[in-house]
Order: sequence, then structure tokens, then C-alpha cells
Amino acid sequence: MRAYANPGNRNLRAARAHFRIEIFVSITHSPRAVTTDNRNHHRTIRSFVRRAGRITPSQQRAFDTLWPMLGVDHDTGILDLERLFGRSAPLVLEIGFGNGETLVEQAAAHPDRDFLGIEVHEPGIGHCMLKAEAAGISNLRIIHHDAMEVLRDQIPPGSLVRLNLYFPDPWPKKRHHKRRIVAPRFLELVADRLAAGGTLNIATDWANYAEHIDDVLSRSDRFECVERREHDGDRPLDRPQTKFERRGLRKGHRIWDWCFQKTANND
Ligand SMILES: C[S@@+](CC[C@H](N)C(=O)[O-])C[C@H]1O[C@@H](n2cnc3c(N)ncnc32)[C@H](O)[C@@H]1O
Repeated sequence: MRAYANPGNRNLRAARAHFRIEIFVSITHSPRAVTTDNRNHHRTIRSFVRRAGRITPSQQRAFDTLWPMLGVDHDTGILDLERLFGRSAPLVLEIGFGNGETLVEQAAAHPDRDFLGIEVHEPGIGHCMLKAEAAGISNLRIIHHDAMEVLRDQIPPGSLVRLNLYFPDPWPKKRHHKRRIVAPRFLELVADRLAAGGTLNIATDWANYAEHIDDVLSRSDRFECVERREHDGDRPLDRPQTKFERRGLRKGHRIWDWCFQKTANND
């Protein structure tokens, strides 16, 4: 099986080596990533920059002992989902799960579904694995890589019943808007990977990103809005509260939640 190779640091080093070469130029608080693709020689604008973050000893233990069970390597082959989870069940994908608390809570609440989480922040992945261990769940796997490439390379077309994108990085400065993950290219990929009737669930606490999401989704003929809520953290749409949501609420932000469904006959 492709998954489960290379535990711990060795795995992370391999993932980094496989990753494209990234040169980060930090200008005050405006990090800019110039990415050179050493296979295709084109510039890639990513929706994240690598955040510095210390791995705690318990998170390191999670990489050493839990990653072989929970971790899935990024490569360019389509995942064999039945082999990966040892069964056939509806698959939910969460992109940018942060510390993974929401992901683990949802996986524990829905043992009849399988959950796949994608994140690039190593301490968050470590935290998520520890939570999964404590919850005693077996229906969760994790990929440490850029979600755009995972969607493109590894997720089988028509395989997802639901994709959760909770509080994606808002990239508030205008010159960084091109980094926002919600964009036509992302929607095309997501629509292809969703099964018929599958849903894209998004939440944000940034008013300007909410406008952007409304705008981009209203222009897409591949999704229709099933539900849209604007609230103060008190009416989340079919999801637990997240860490970044709590952070936004403490700053006095409002919350926007959407459920978009893939439109019929658009494959
Ligand atoms: C603002 S945080 C939100 C975390 C979590 N969903 C929450 O609500 O607490 C956004 C997360 O998305 C991750 N992220 C951004 N772009 C990503 C990408 N292309 N692939 C994987 N993870 C990504 C970041 O590392 C970060 O942890």
C-alpha cells in the first residue's frame, strides 16, 4: 500500500523534498512566496506560507508512532480508498484542518463515514493525530501536503460526499487576494471530485472574504447555494465550532456559513 510509509521525521523530510522549491521573501508582515516548480518550470501561487511552529515532544511522538497508521504520503497516483480505509464508506474531506479538533469531532460523530484531512502545518497535524488517538477512531486519515495538489493528483473523481473548508486563510490584503483558495480553478477541481449531490461547506469570519466567496460561487455553474447563514457563532451550519472561529469571535467578527451543492448533470 502506498500509504503508511516512512514514519516521523523521515517522512516529513521526504515530503519536503518532494515539495517544490520555495523561496520566501519576508517584507515586514507581507511574506511572499516565489515558487519554482522544478518539474514544470511554472510559477505556483499557494494559499499558504509555511508558518514557523515548534513541534512539542508529544506531537513528535505522534509523528513517530501514529503517522504510520494515520498518515498518507502525497504522490501522483490516485488513492485506493477501499484499501486505505479497509472498507467502502462515504468520504468526507476537510482542507486546512488546523489543529484538527473539528475534524476529529466530526469523524467520531459519524463512524459510518470516512474522513480525510489535508493540512500543511506540522504542529497542527501532530495535535490532530493525538486527538484521533484519544478519541479511539479508525475512520480518519491525514495528508501533509498542498490541498490543491492532493485534489489534483490523489482524490478520485466523483469520490467525495462532502468537502469542508472551514475558515480558510483570508489573505486580507488586496495584493494577496490571488492566494485565496476559493477561486474558479479550485471550484472546478472540487466539482470534479465530488459525487453527484455532494456538497462544499465553507465558513469564514472575514467580511471581505465572504463577499469574495459569494461572488466566485455565484459565477460558477457547477454549484448552487443550498443554505447561507450569517451569524455570531451561535448558528453554525452542521459543524462544530473551530479554533479560528473562536479567535474571530473574540475579535468581534461575524461568521458566514454556506452549503453549496454540486449541480446536477455537470460532469
Ligand atoms: C485560518 S486556518 C483555519 C484552521 C481550521 N480550519 C480552523 O478553523 O481552526 C487555515 C488553515 O489552512 C491551512 N492551509 C491553507 N492552505 C492550504 C493548502 N493549500 N493545503 C493544505 N492546508 C492549507 C493552513 O495551514 C491553516 O492551518
